Formats: sequence, structure tokens, C-alpha cells
Amino acid sequence: MLGLADKSAGDPDGWHRLRAARLALPRYHARLRRAVRRLVTTRRGRTFVAFVIFSALVVSGKLGFGWALLAFLAVAGLMIATPSEDDSLAIEAAARDGGSGGSRATPREQDGWRAVIDALPEPAITLDSAGYVMHYNVLIRDLFPNVRARRPFSHVSRNPELMEAIDRAAAAREPIIVDLYERVPLERRISVTITRVSSASGAHGLPAMLITFRDQTATDKVAQMRADFIANASHELRTPLASLRGFVETLQGPARDDPAAREKFLSIMASQAARMTRLIDDLLSLSRVEMKVHLRPTGVVDLNELSGYVAQTLEPLAEASKSAIVVHPLPTPARVRGDREELVQVLQNLAHNALKYGREGGRVDIRLVREPGTPRRISVAITDDGPGIAPEHLPRLTERFYRANVATSREKGGTGLGLAIVKHIVNRHRGDLRIASRVGQGSTFTVIFDEL
Ligand SMILES: Nc1ncnc2c1ncn2[C@@H]1O[C@H](COP(=O)(O)OP(=O)(O)OP(=O)(O)O)[C@@H](O)[C@H]1O
Ligand SMILES: [Mg+2]
Repeated sequence: MLGLADKSAGDPDGWHRLRAARLALPRYHARLRRAVRRLVTTRRGRTFVAFVIFSALVVSGKLGFGWALLAFLAVAGLMIATPSEDDSLAIEAAARDGGSGGSRATPREQDGWRAVIDALPEPAITLDSAGYVMHYNVLIRDLFPNVRARRPFSHVSRNPELMEAIDRAAAAREPIIVDLYERVPLERRISVTITRVSSASGAHGLPAMLITFRDQTATDKVAQMRADFIANASHELRTPLASLRGFVETLQGPARDDPAAREKFLSIMASQAARMTRLIDDLLSLSRVEMKVHLRPTGVVDLNELSGYVAQTLEPLAEASKSAIVVHPLPTPARVRGDREELVQVLQNLAHNALKYGREGGRVDIRLVREPGTPRRISVAITDDGPGIAPEHLPRLTERFYRANVATSREKGGTGLGLAIVKHIVNRHRGDLRIASRVGQGSTFTVIFDEL
């Protein structure tokens, strides 16, 4: 529930009572005008007959003027209180005749605008010119659980910024937009647009004010993520670039005539340049996958064959870390719909991580399992017996540039984009990625796809 809502609306203080009374005055005035209009439109004939009868009684001396007037008023009151089928026709006719520039709404039109409010995809509420709630859609209840029709809006929300904006909107030509912030239980920003619909309202059945609410929290988060991404990417590029420039200066200056130093520096420079190339390749790969995320892959891939191929490509790395990489295929072909190159990237990234962050001289298993249930699914679990990952890192591992251990990742040439790419590819294949890890025992990264 948004903190905009008035939690003690059933017990308004003195100021609110005064405000409500002030706002209620024009309302009674409008009711009286409506009653008189009924008498001279839909009840015109009956009013005339009553008038003639009471006049005749007075003229013939059968009834005193005072009594006749009293009786006439009582009959008129009864006529106003009794609904008549002619009412809707009369209001329609009045609206057709022009009235106040077409601002009068027929009952059908009233239903129309209410239906529009109900259909709006965002929380929306309408007020009459006295500040009373006329209509609202169901989405409003999330923001204001105690909202009721015909209740002053000042009882529904006591947010001073919102109330002040509504007052301003009543006199403004343009819509008024205000941002409301909530800190607890979650940080949220709600953008509120208050639009004046018509100046003379209530009596004609049209709202005076339309208030719509838009939760901007998710948009803000995306903007923040984009800014962070650019900051991270430039930071990752700046570090090797600064080191390259430093070595170039050293080679141009003090180490100009030192062949041993030149040899050493040039090899470091080559590794820094390779790091930058890797980063750019990963960034491009990420953006390519992001662009295709809504296009389902059309190829057919056998995960048995793919796992064997990936293990083979990583054999030299496994040898370098004295680790073993073992594949446990399914007894029958494990066919899924997919893009072979992308699925190679997924298994390669996961198996490479297992070798990189696993134990030296350890073991990496790639195990395929047919999951029970329908539709039939195949999971590929990549398990290492390394140091594992602390639980607080697990939910964030697939964020771009997120590393559980920044120093180790950099030292091993990691860019922190591998798992972000994996997640995007798995999403494109409508698959699942699960991460489980125990500190001191190892980690298992599992990808699951529908079997063909
Ligand atoms: N099997 C694993 N064991 C322990 N930590 C892991 C494992 N896999 C991933 N991590 C942690 O998750 C982080 C993110 O992994 P990710 O693959 O996204 O990036 P990276 O390996 O650092 O860089 P890149 O994959 O782009 O070369 C790693 O930096 C590491 O801290
Ligand atoms: Mg990686």
C-alpha cells in the first residue's frame, strides 16, 4: 500500500471537517438546481396540473392561500423524489440543445467515460469540482485501499504535495505532473498527472479532474542499470588502456635501449590488448544476444554431442590446471531446439568458470539428466569441487560485471560478463538457469531446456 493513503480516514480532524463543509456547499447548490430543473422539464405537465388545481381551490375559496402553497410544495417535492423514465430523455435533449457548450453528459455518455476510466491500464480516479471522488478503476485500490465514491479525496489521501497539486490543477490550463516518493516498505517513485477535464462539473455528470498514477520505479531502475553499465564498461577498458600507455612511455624513455625489459613489457602489453579485445567481444556478444532475445531459435542441437565437443575444446585448459573434465551423456540423443553456436557459448562459459574458479587438480563434471514431468526437459549440470560461492553473491552473479571475487576474476582474465551472456542465451531458448553452491564444497550451474 502506498503511503499516500490516509490511514485514519474514518476520524477526520477539525481542519478536514471544515474543508469538507466548504467543499460540500457547492454540492447542495447543485442539487437544488437539479431539482428545480426537473420540475420545469420532465415534470412540467404534472407541475402545471397541480398548479391549476390548487389555484382553482384558492379562487373558489375552498382552500386558504397559505395551505394551498404548502400543499403544492409537498406535491412538487414528491414529484422530484420519484424517478421518471423521462429523465434520461430530458437530459439527452438538454445536451443536444447545447446547454453549456456540450459539456453536459447523457447517462450513456456518463457510462462511456466511466468505462474508459475502468479500461485505463494505470490507476485512475476522477473528482467532481468539489473534490469528491466520482469514479475510479480497480488499480487505484493498490494505492488507496480506503477509496470510496462520494468521499472527499482529502479523506482518501492526505499527502500534502498531492492535495496542493490538485488545487493548482483546478486553476491550470495544462495538466500538472508531480512525483511522489515512498521510502517504506520499498523505495518507489510514482508520477501523478492531474488533468482538469471540465470547469463546470458534477451537475452535468462529468468529472472536473482526472488523476492518473504511474509507477516509475522500474523505469528508474533500468536507467540506473544503463548508467552503471556504461560506467563499468569504461572502467574495465580504462584499466588496461592506462597500463598500455604506461608501458609505451617506458619503452620510449628509460627502457629504450634495454632489450630484456622491452621483451618483458611487450608481452605484458600483448596480454592487456588481448584483455581489451575479449571485453569488446563479450560486449558485442551480449548486445547480439539481447537483440535476438525475442526470436526463438530454429535449429536442432544434440546436447550429448555438444557437451563432448565443449569438453574437448577445454581439454588444454583442464590440463594446465591439472584438472579432469568428465562428460556423463544421456543414453539416447538429447535433442533440443536451439542455436548451436549460442549453446556452445553457454556450456563453454560454465565449464570454463568451473575450471577457472574450481580447485587446481580438481574435477569438473558435465552431467545430462532427463527431468521427470511434462513437457520433457533435459538438464545439463556443470559441477566443480572448488571453493564454492558465498550465498550472498548467488542472486547477483548474472548481473553484468558482477564478480564474487573481483581480484581473482581479473587475475584470471575474466570480464564479469560470462554469466550475463549465459542468462540471456538461456532466456532466448526459453530455458532455465539454476545456481547452487556450498562454500568449501563446490558449485553446480544447471541449464534446463525442453526436449524436442
Ligand atoms: N564455478 C564457479 N566457482 C566459483 N565462483 C564462480 C564460478 N563461476 C562463476 N563464479 C563467480 O562468478 C563471477 C561471474 O562469473 P562470469 O562468468 O560472469 O565472469 P568472469 O568469469 O569473471 O568473466 P568472463 O566469464 O567474462 O571471462 C566470477 O567472477 C566468479 O567470482
Ligand atoms: Mg566466466
